[in-house]
Amino acid sequence: MTTILALETSCDETAVAIVTDRQIRSSVVSSQIDIHQRYGGIVPEVASRQHVITIGAELEAALGQAGLGWAEIDAVAATCTPGLVGALMVGLTTGKTLAMVHQKPFLGVHHLEGHIYANYLAQPDLQPPYLCLLVSGGHTSLIGVRDCGDYQTLGQTRDDAAGEAFDKVARLLGLGYPGGPVIDRLAKEGNAAAFPLPEGNISLPEGGFHPYDSSFSGLKTAVLRLVEKLKAEGADPLPVADLAASFQATVARSLTKRAITCALDHGFTTIAIGGGVAANSALRRHLQEATAIHNLRVLFPPLSLCTDNAAMIACAAADHFNRGHRSDYTVGVQSRLDLTRVMELYG
Ligand code: KG4
Ligand code: ZN
Repeated sequence: MTTILALETSCDETAVAIVTDRQIRSSVVSSQIDIHQRYGGIVPEVASRQHVITIGAELEAALGQAGLGWAEIDAVAATCTPGLVGALMVGLTTGKTLAMVHQKPFLGVHHLEGHIYANYLAQPDLQPPYLCLLVSGGHTSLIGVRDCGDYQTLGQTRDDAAGEAFDKVARLLGLGYPGGPVIDRLAKEGNAAAFPLPEGNISLPEGGFHPYDSSFSGLKTAVLRLVEKLKAEGADPLPVADLAASFQATVARSLTKRAITCALDHGFTTIAIGGGVAANSALRRHLQEATAIHNLRVLFPPLSLCTDNAAMIACAAADHFNRGHRSDYTVGVQSRLDLTRVMELYG
């Protein structure tokens, strides 16, 4: 049994959690959305400052809620990549300092490995191999999970991430930030078949399309052109619910098709989902229907574990810790690091 205290500050959520292997002892998340909303997106410097303001109280709250003292913590972990460099620095420096002061081992954690591990918190009996569809604000990829620290990128977006597409489309529809939750809500009142939109296929030089890669920037431009056309035709108000539903269904269809093809081609019988867009109701519905047809198992972490949190970081760190992996205190922040290189974080 390994108990990890982890910190997550890679973007606009300040989070601290304590996890024993795959069981959450406490998980505190403070979102900065209200602060960034007035700018229409995340302002990196504001995010870093807010992490500094919030993290101390969150640490106290996480220890208090778990009813644990430092004697019961086996190691400290913090997200060190990928993310906003200044924001990552706050959690990483705090984590290393806590580890030094309390004389605990330290582990830097890859944020996307954390999103994969959210599935183990929800489903403690999950074992590799399986396919993970990672869909967040910054990433969209299909990852073959072979073991702890052993990942293969099988498919990815060639441009915008799925969450980024939700955020950009919401902005052009005047729906504010972040786009995913509001589009998801509005889409429930709209007709998903109202506007046919391109699914973002990637052409191959030899003809045909890439089976797993996708593009979302063309879809965003198609929505923009459609909005311009509707406005020119005098649509007032814009059919925002139909636009949201059509866009959301297109993303869900595109991601589902690629995930199913990839799973079947590579012999995976389980598809696990990670990242903020995993909260999307249309994506869940499409995946549930398609996996049932193909007799595949599909796992969705609960909504609170889909978006950024520190429990998923602690869970990943616990698995690494149990295998003897430790980070050097010299481990630094990196704005990007391919998930296939995650073992470089451990000496
Ligand atoms: O994983 P996450 O919390 O942060 C990153 O690591 O990026 O993902 C945030 C993204 C945002 O783009 C947000 O719009 C999207 O997840 N999101 C959603 C939903 N809830 C959050 N996208 C679609 N539908 C949702 N219900
Ligand atoms: Zn994330």
